Amino acid sequence: MSGPILIFDSGVGGLSVVTALREQMPGAPLAYVCDNAALPYGTKADAWLVRRIVQVCRAAVAASGARVLVVACNTASTLALDALRAAVTIPVVGTVPAIKPAAALSRSGVIGLLATSATVTRPYTDKLIDDFAGHCTVVRVAADGLVAQAERLLAGEPVDDAVIDAGLAPLWRAPALDTVVLGCTHFPLLRDVLDARAPRPLQWVDSGRAIARRVAQVAGGEAGGVVSGLSWATKPLRPGLQAGLATFGFADPTVLSASVIESG
Ligand code: DGL
Repeated sequence: MSGPILIFDSGVGGLSVVTALREQMPGAPLAYVCDNAALPYGTKADAWLVRRIVQVCRAAVAASGARVLVVACNTASTLALDALRAAVTIPVVGTVPAIKPAAALSRSGVIGLLATSATVTRPYTDKLIDDFAGHCTVVRVAADGLVAQAERLLAGEPVDDAVIDAGLAPLWRAPALDTVVLGCTHFPLLRDVLDARAPRPLQWVDSGRAIARRVAQVAGGEAGGVVSGLSWATKPLRPGLQAGLATFGFADPTVLSASVIESG
């Protein structure tokens, strides 16, 4: 297999998965695509999202010549993995909330799921909870406001503590809760901020390492001569975000044209 490993998210959340991939596969060529023109995904209608996700991913897979597509977005993965697998010929690895490890880690059996509105209510998420956390109480928290805060942090802009506190507040209503699933790839980028705002210590669990291990299994060996660090977006990134992307080793994104996405 040749071509880079292509990481896809609505915005910069996929960079939390990039960190795990670089640890697992230090030499692997990576490419990044974000659908920033449609950010946030977590509050959009399912039917629209499936069509959009397939169009953007198809266009980016063609532009990058990728060998694997990593859907580094829980909101997209809990909805559109089947449609994506039918639409592209390369392997597709998804990112879904780390309910299973969180249920295993929790001592109290009370865990939180911090994710987008879409992810906390999806049938896919219901099934994960039924299958792996039947013995736990799961407090589902829709924290869409944290997505923009993660984008701000990456852009070097100040984070709004009031928004962070409002996002986390429902967790504190469950005194026994000891473990929180970061079920949106944007949220591990905010981990230090979340920790600092939490009134008591919690275990934060995300899917990054598990995704990286899965990608290593399906990606095959190192591909010599493949350019690493190219990126695509659906509209230009503001300068702060370009700089943030550069700290993860990605060049300024090429904008996928609307006609390419529409014809995808
Ligand atoms: N990073 C995405 C996720 O993992 C969601 C952000 C959004 O709402 O677009 O769910």
